Formats: sequence, C-alpha cells, structure tokens
Amino acid sequence: MKPFNPIKIGLAGVGRAGYSMQPIEVEKTEGRFEFVACCDTEMERCDKFAEKFNKSCNKYTSYDEMLKDPEVELVSVAVRSPEHTEYSIKALQAGKYVFCEKPIALTLDEALKLKAASKKYPGKLFLRHNRRFEPCYNHIREIMDSGILGNIFQIRLRRNSYQRRDDWQTLIECGGGMLNNWGPHIIDHSLHLLESPVKKVWSRLRRVAAVGDAEDHLTVIFEGENGRLIDMEISGGAAITEPIYQVYGDRGALVSQDEKELKMRYIDPEQKLQDIKAKKESPPLDTGFRNPEKLDWIEKTIPVEPSSKCETWHIWNHMYDAIRNGVTFPITIDEGVEVVKYTEMVRKGSGFER
Ligand SMILES: NC(=O)c1ccc[n+]([C@@H]2O[C@H](COP(=O)([O-])OP(=O)(O)OC[C@H]3O[C@@H](n4cnc5c(N)ncnc54)[C@H](O)[C@@H]3O)[C@@H](O)[C@H]2O)c1
Repeated sequence: MKPFNPIKIGLAGVGRAGYSMQPIEVEKTEGRFEFVACCDTEMERCDKFAEKFNKSCNKYTSYDEMLKDPEVELVSVAVRSPEHTEYSIKALQAGKYVFCEKPIALTLDEALKLKAASKKYPGKLFLRHNRRFEPCYNHIREIMDSGILGNIFQIRLRRNSYQRRDDWQTLIECGGGMLNNWGPHIIDHSLHLLESPVKKVWSRLRRVAAVGDAEDHLTVIFEGENGRLIDMEISGGAAITEPIYQVYGDRGALVSQDEKELKMRYIDPEQKLQDIKAKKESPPLDTGFRNPEKLDWIEKTIPVEPSSKCETWHIWNHMYDAIRNGVTFPITIDEGVEVVKYTEMVRKGSGFER
C-alpha cells in the first residue's frame, strides 16, 4: 500500500520557481504530491518539464484549459507576480486547491480580493511563504523564546548581494523589484520577529546595480509597540555583505553570518545582576571605564539546528497534512494580507517613483 494519497498538481509557469525549485522540493515529499499537468505560454517549456518530471503529464499553453483538467486537484501558481491574485482566484472558482507563490498580490486591494475568495472557498488556498520554515529563522525564534538573551530590543535582517540583474524582476511594469521579490519573505519574518503590533515604519528604496527601473536595494525599519526595532535590508547593490541575522537583547546577542552557524554571547542566566545605582559624582581617578561588576559571559558558536528540524520545503508537507488530514496550515490569509499591507506602506512611504 502507498503510504500517501498523492495530491495531483497542475503547475502554472514552468520557470525558475516552477521548473528549478518546486519539482525538486516535491521529490523530497516522498510521494505526497505528483505533477499531472503543466502550463506555460511556451510549449517547449512544458515539453521540457514533462520530459524531466513526468512523461505522461498533460501539457497546456492555456491556463483556462488546464483549469478544466479533472485530474488536477491543486494548481501551483508560479507565473510572474502580477498574475498571482487573478490566477489563484480563477483556480479557486474552478474548484481547485491553490498554492499561490509570493507575492500573493501586488496591492492591498488585490490581497483583499484574494482573502474574500479564500473565505468563499474555505481550506482551499495555501500561500507559499516558504521561508517561514527556514531553519535559521526558526532556531533564532527558539533562542529568543528561551529568554537567554533577555529582552530583545533590536534585530537586523540582511539579504545582501551585488548583481547587475537584467530580468523581468528588475522591471516595474512586470511587477519586479526587490520589494516584491524578496520583500514578502523578509517582511513576513519581520512582522513575526516583532512579536507586537507595528507602531512605526520607515523605508527607503533605491536602484543601484540592477539594470531595470525597479528598486534593487531597500531599507525598512519597523518599530513595534513593545519598543522592539527590526532593521531590514535587502540589496542587490551591496558589494560587501553583512550577517544575515543580528539579534540584540539586554542580556546578550547573537549573530548568524551565513545561516549555518549561530554565534552567541550572553550573560550566564544563573547570574543575577546587582542592583547598581548610577552616581552623579566624578569617578575616582585611575578607575578607567571598567564594568562595576564582573559579568559571567557565555560565548559559543553552535550549528543552526532548530528543534523542529524544519526546512523551507516542508511547506509542502504542511499543505499535504492540511488537505488530506485536516491539520491547520500554519500560514493564514490574514498574515498574507498583512505582508501585502506593509509592502504597500513601505513602497508609498519610500517615495520611490513607480
Ligand atoms: N517562494 C520562492 O522561494 C520563490 C522563488 C523564486 C520565484 N518565486 C516567485 O515565482 C514567480 C515566478 O518567478 P520565476 O523566477 O520562476 O519567473 P520565470 O520568468 O523564470 O518563470 C515564469 C514562467 O511563467 C511563464 N508564463 C508567463 N506568463 C504566463 C501565463 N500567462 N500563463 C502560463 N505561463 C506563463 C513564463 O513563460 C515562464 O516560464 C515570481 O512571482 C516569484 O516571485 C518564488
């Protein structure tokens, strides 16, 4: 007996996500999913997909035709960003489950339309915010929850590189730009890492190295009502990179340069800090700038290994459990709408002309 009842996928968009990412991830799900159809405006791409992943796959150049295919249970919407909302709603209306690539929408209005459709077809829509399952992000959240770093007051998130990029993701008219591209992932992380409603947002977008007209460098600062600051930067124009994560608490800090290791320095949780009062008078001569008490620092570097053992591709297993076993999917439409709402606020607040 087969251990799983495979969910039959119709893929829309045989590109970098649809050809080079999703099938590789699906292979890891050990039979939970199978591609039974694919659709692309270029038939050669469908031919190549079928040749590589399933020779009996049905091939379409018309999305509407693929939606009529009774074999397709779930449509994976992996076409360019401007079509995500419309294609997802169409697939829901055709009675399919839908896996919607990020960005789920380019405007808040669109996101709200998608939300309305998801309410009409409950349990059918799944948002591909796959970086929610990034091991390093999850490990850091576990360390924050453990309390060893104390009260977290600031987090820096970086995704930096330098690329003279020239594809549609650099063109405004095609829905490109770093904010639509990497933005949904890191804004989603930011909103969760804030652990509080957003009080203030500041943003700046720039085009640096990419050759299109859309931004390839962005800086966003979120301040939470809890006083925590998230400082995020995504750049295709930064020739020297910074650590991907830096987390600062009032008893210690951690850094991950590369998402493989976590370097931590924190005061031993056993140490109770003395109740020291600040003194107005001038310190005695020859005392220097020393700490008034000895701090028992713990310094260590550990591999990234969240206790959940999660990986970005686990989003597929979560989707399988939701569809076949009625388990709640961990990413909600309201969270997706919040990401689009802040993406729009960041864009408008930056003054970057689009
Ligand atoms: N979640 C992630 O980690 C992740 C990673 C990469 C890309 N993405 C998202 O996936 C989407 C696609 O990105 P990409 O880099 O794969 O783009 P791409 O250009 O490589 O692929 C898009 C494909 O869609 C096809 N296409 C275009 N219009 C179509 C239509 N109307 N009907 C059918 N096919 C059509 C194109 O021919 C192309 O093959 C983007 O929105 C991007 O944000 C997500």
